[in-house]
Amino acid sequence: MSVKASLAIVFGVGALAGSAALAQGIAADIERPEVPGRVVFEQQCAPCHGTGPGDDGSPTLPGTAALDAKYGGDRPGPLELRSDLPAPVLRVILRRGSGAMPMFRKGELTDAQIDELAAYIAATAAANPRR
Ligand code: HEC
Repeated sequence: MSVKASLAIVFGVGALAGSAALAQGIAADIERPEVPGRVVFEQQCAPCHGTGPGDDGSPTLPGTAALDAKYGGDRPGPLELRSDLPAPVLRVILRRGSGAMPMFRKGELTDAQIDELAAYIAATAAANPRR
């Protein structure tokens, strides 16, 4: 299932048009190291887990908002600021799905891409220490 199809199913709207959502999802408010997983994150994760506003007028994207609500500030809402998601943990969560987040099959996201994502998230968290 594509990211766009997942979005349409989870949120029941076609309004989250790919490029607009991406442009907002990757709002330039945090430092993003140029490591390989960055592109995968921007394409597959930022539409829900980015730090920009939603194009439906919501101040936060759904993944970021859900994690803000889940942890109430104990952990950062933006996935890119999490330092507790090593590849094995990330793999389990992505292959199973989590709450409102659909699962990712190997055809959509390879194990190697998950490794790259974990490295990117760790590098970004390190580059943006929590204030
Ligand atoms: C369709 C929107 C959407 C997409 C695309 C998406 N996620 Fe999520 N994700 C969510 C939502 C919503 C949650 C919170 C669900 C919950 O309550 O556990 C979540 C939760 C998670 C969690 C659990 C974190 C925690 O502490 O509970 C991880 C890890 C995660 N996503 C990683 C990713 C990665 C990596 C990608 C890109 C490959 C991705 N997600 C793509 C919506 C999405």
